[in-house]
Amino acid sequence: MKILVTGGAGFVGSHLVDQLLANDEQVLVIDNFATGRRDNLSQHSNLRVVEGTIADESLMASLFGEFEPNVVVHAAASYKDPENWEEDVKTNALGSAIVANLSKAHEVQRLIYFQTALCYGLKPLEQPITLQHPVQPWESSYAISKTAGEQYVRLSGVDFISFRLANAYGPRNLSGPLPTFFHRLTNDKPCFVMDTRRDFIYIDDLIGLSKKAVYGDGRSGFYHVSSGSDFAIKELFDAVIEALQIQLEEDVEVLPRKPDDAPSILLDPSVTNEEFKWQVTTDLNVGVNQTIAYYNEYGIVDTYTHLKQSE
Ligand SMILES: NC(=O)c1ccc[n+]([C@@H]2O[C@H](COP(=O)([O-])OP(=O)(O)OC[C@H]3O[C@@H](n4cnc5c(N)ncnc54)[C@H](O)[C@@H]3O)[C@@H](O)[C@H]2O)c1
Repeated sequence: MKILVTGGAGFVGSHLVDQLLANDEQVLVIDNFATGRRDNLSQHSNLRVVEGTIADESLMASLFGEFEPNVVVHAAASYKDPENWEEDVKTNALGSAIVANLSKAHEVQRLIYFQTALCYGLKPLEQPITLQHPVQPWESSYAISKTAGEQYVRLSGVDFISFRLANAYGPRNLSGPLPTFFHRLTNDKPCFVMDTRRDFIYIDDLIGLSKKAVYGDGRSGFYHVSSGSDFAIKELFDAVIEALQIQLEEDVEVLPRKPDDAPSILLDPSVTNEEFKWQVTTDLNVGVNQTIAYYNEYGIVDTYTHLKQSE
């Protein structure tokens, strides 16, 4: 198969590219390296990497025309600077509209999208969140523009799968609490954790599911990707401490939630479990150990956040 992966040098995209190449597929990656790393991708005869932006319509049209992908995995997203609304709109809304339109024009068999759970807002109305929960992404530029992108994917009429993700973590992940804890702990900076619970999904579990979607499993539509369990941020922190084999002089400070913090954000994966015959198999401690091993080997220069408030 020929598979176009936007954002293929990023965390999620690059892991999927590795697996597709291992299956002998031909892969074309477009990435502007805003948050992706060149060394996330190894050279391979079936892989072509183009540096550029998905918001460049003529570049994208020529790539679709030359490559004629069977499947498009749209993993590119902008979130690096929460104040840079223009870049978020260009990449997440305009770029997604371009990818969706070209997928339709070139009769792509399937278009796969990765949506943020922030589409349900910072204060979801139910726990766990079902697919019937209203979409209310109003608190961040990232969530607003990603939701616009998701709607263009749907509007295109192309057979699509939009995976709405819990916090994904694993080797190469540079956003969210795990790389931040690692970065601070290994640079002798103090850490604190919020008294909140969140939903975490290990990259191997997410990639296993994404591969099923690439190869045609599941009906077109929206799906939650979650382990089905939420964890206290303190549990994640303790798993990092254990993986780093360090002993803190004092236990980490647990800060009370601010009025705007949801006590828990947990997605209900039951529809996904049934439709894709899939479920999470990686235990949190195992996943954290593998992630820390990667950070120890490759280091972290930058970490990013999708939300200004969570900094
Ligand atoms: N990681 C998570 O927990 C999570 C949760 C919800 C949704 N998502 C979504 O999953 C997808 C992958 O995220 P990730 O965690 O791998 O992040 P990432 O930052 O590692 O990957 C995104 C990639 O897109 C590239 N990119 C940004 N703007 C671009 C542009 N204009 N043109 C081309 N490439 C561009 C970046 O350089 C990067 O390589 C994104 O769509 C993201 O919104 C991720």
